[in-house]
Amino acid sequence: MKRFITLFAAVCACAVLVAQEITLSPDNIDAVIARMTLKEKATIVVGAGYKSMLAGQFGFKVPVPGAAGMTQAIPRLGIPAIVLSDGPAGVRIQQTCTGFPIGSMLSSTWNTELVEEVGEAIGAEALAYGVDVLLAPGMNLQRNPLCGRNFEYFSEDPLLSGRTAAAYIRGVQGRGVGTSAKHFASNNQETNRFWNDSRVAPDVLEALYLRGFEIAVKEAQPWTIMASYNRLNGIHTQQDRWLLTDVLRGRWGFEGLVMTDWTGKRDTPAQIAAGCDLMEPGGASQTRELVRSVKKGELPEEALDVCVRRVLELIVKTPTFRGVPRSKAPDLEAHAIVAREAAEEGIVLLDNDGVLPLKASATLALFGVGSYQALPGGTGSGHVHRPYVVSLASGLQTEGFQINSYLSDTYGGYLSKNKPKKTFLSGMLGSPAAPEMPVTRELVEKAASSDIAIFTISRQAGEGGDRHMEDDFLLSEGERQALTDVSEVFHSQGKRVVVVLNIGGVIETASWKHLADAVLLAWQPGQEGGSALARVLDGAVSPSGRLPVTFPVDYFDLPSSAHFPYNYSGRSTMASGGKDREKDVPNVGYTDYAEGLEVGYRAFLRADAPAVSYPFGHGLSYTSFEESRPVFSGDTVEVTVRNIGPVAGKHAVIIMNPTLCAFGKTRVLAPGESETLTMKYYAENR
Ligand code: BGC
Repeated sequence: MKRFITLFAAVCACAVLVAQEITLSPDNIDAVIARMTLKEKATIVVGAGYKSMLAGQFGFKVPVPGAAGMTQAIPRLGIPAIVLSDGPAGVRIQQTCTGFPIGSMLSSTWNTELVEEVGEAIGAEALAYGVDVLLAPGMNLQRNPLCGRNFEYFSEDPLLSGRTAAAYIRGVQGRGVGTSAKHFASNNQETNRFWNDSRVAPDVLEALYLRGFEIAVKEAQPWTIMASYNRLNGIHTQQDRWLLTDVLRGRWGFEGLVMTDWTGKRDTPAQIAAGCDLMEPGGASQTRELVRSVKKGELPEEALDVCVRRVLELIVKTPTFRGVPRSKAPDLEAHAIVAREAAEEGIVLLDNDGVLPLKASATLALFGVGSYQALPGGTGSGHVHRPYVVSLASGLQTEGFQINSYLSDTYGGYLSKNKPKKTFLSGMLGSPAAPEMPVTRELVEKAASSDIAIFTISRQAGEGGDRHMEDDFLLSEGERQALTDVSEVFHSQGKRVVVVLNIGGVIETASWKHLADAVLLAWQPGQEGGSALARVLDGAVSPSGRLPVTFPVDYFDLPSSAHFPYNYSGRSTMASGGKDREKDVPNVGYTDYAEGLEVGYRAFLRADAPAVSYPFGHGLSYTSFEESRPVFSGDTVEVTVRNIGPVAGKHAVIIMNPTLCAFGKTRVLAPGESETLTMKYYAENR
């Protein structure tokens, strides 16, 4: 009887607790957790599904249509649902948002202050439109040029990746919106992406694939981290306690929440036990699995409580919870200027025999569909619904150049008949680029009435597929022939040829660059790309970008090429919606990172290494700079830069010893002017 009374009293006490009114606030999280039922706990760690992502396609009513995901609300405890949205080059929602340059271009600026400004602008748009956490930056290492998502990532070097990511995170979070540094970790290919096992030796993992994340966590504390789809040394990262708890939290002091990447559902209780706090986009079966597992005693409720606490700690920081007004009217004009400036600074002048900057009187023949229909970014979750995209042709016209109208009409006619294929998901993921127009010798001869040829080579990729060798890393036969014809015809008349690369990742350049007098790497430069390019071409801006990645002579010079599945049959990206899209093969497939530390420029440090086409850090200018000898003091290094050339420009200082140890960027220096940069020195970058 006594036992029965005690039990009855305990049940009543619990009932009173549950019934008692309490609403979440930053200082009562424990009390809220104490009042949550098991089902509520298992609900708060599971997202609200695909509704917000597919709102545009199915007309669902959600706070932010097109946002990748949400959490679930528990109104009785005053817990609101929060909104998570991609992505790296701008906010990816149904609403149009500013399209910024891709990750590889932001890192090409070597200007962390500028990247922070880009982050601030993206954060301001996220805030204005109702987003709480931005699913960016993407910061996996660019291990191999054929990874379909390299455009979203920063570099082949972890220090440049980590510091660029930290700047981006500071910018966004400075606006009171969270970030999610992704994809943690070793997610360096798209082939078999849900299952592939990245097999990486422990020292290589630490030095390369974890290092960038470590820097970003220690220097900027992202509110969240997104665990990747792949496995790492046999274990899915989303359920790897060593990675998510021992390393990330224990060793690096990460204070935030870990969420899953989308789509690939895993063993939910194992994820919770590992310290993966939030399942996105989430499904009811995951909540049921958790409840069942706790009831059966397989998952300790305390482990679930740890994740619940982290979700609640995230929620109370968000603008939605704090009731920050959403203006729906960010300053898009100001952000377009930031996008243009970032593009101007990220453009890399690879070669120039003096043809650039262009003379104002020059008349121009523009070849390549990309000259008229610029590719501002990649597809997939890195896509942005931009309000417009400035093409190179219109950028040059705005700068006052005469464009060959016969050629532009020919391209215009072709493009109107060869529109990019739209699919059901195009609005969400972007469309693949228009196919390249075949160019006849006759057309080239007609166009040679202009003074200078500009030949744009375009490449696009996106999540869900890796790039391929033919017609992608290599020029297609058509492109090669067209460039040869343009080069022969223009050069035979004493005229010059400029190649513009509108690409998201490294391509082969060694076999054809002699055909051009200048090569300009425009990356995928966002909505203002055409204006930025035109201003660099005409010398309004002196180029100051430098390569964040190596351009090898031959793909097979890269040691990782022996272990990258470039000939896998799933060639097209999700955005193509094609039948041959990603074919996932459950539980098979691994990638041996057997090249060890020999990734990117690290593979070319040995004296007997093959030559490269353009090395890491390469980038020309219209002026010249003199750097003083570096002066080391504690963990900083000081370098004085003087502009000893004819025009104003910025300069990026890059200190390699033999790997990247420090970098910084000057302001615009007028001829004769100098600036002393004090930079943090990272002796441990191996
Ligand atoms: C991508 C993530 C993205 C998520 C939500 C996934 O397929 O890998 O980078 O944030 O979708 O859109």
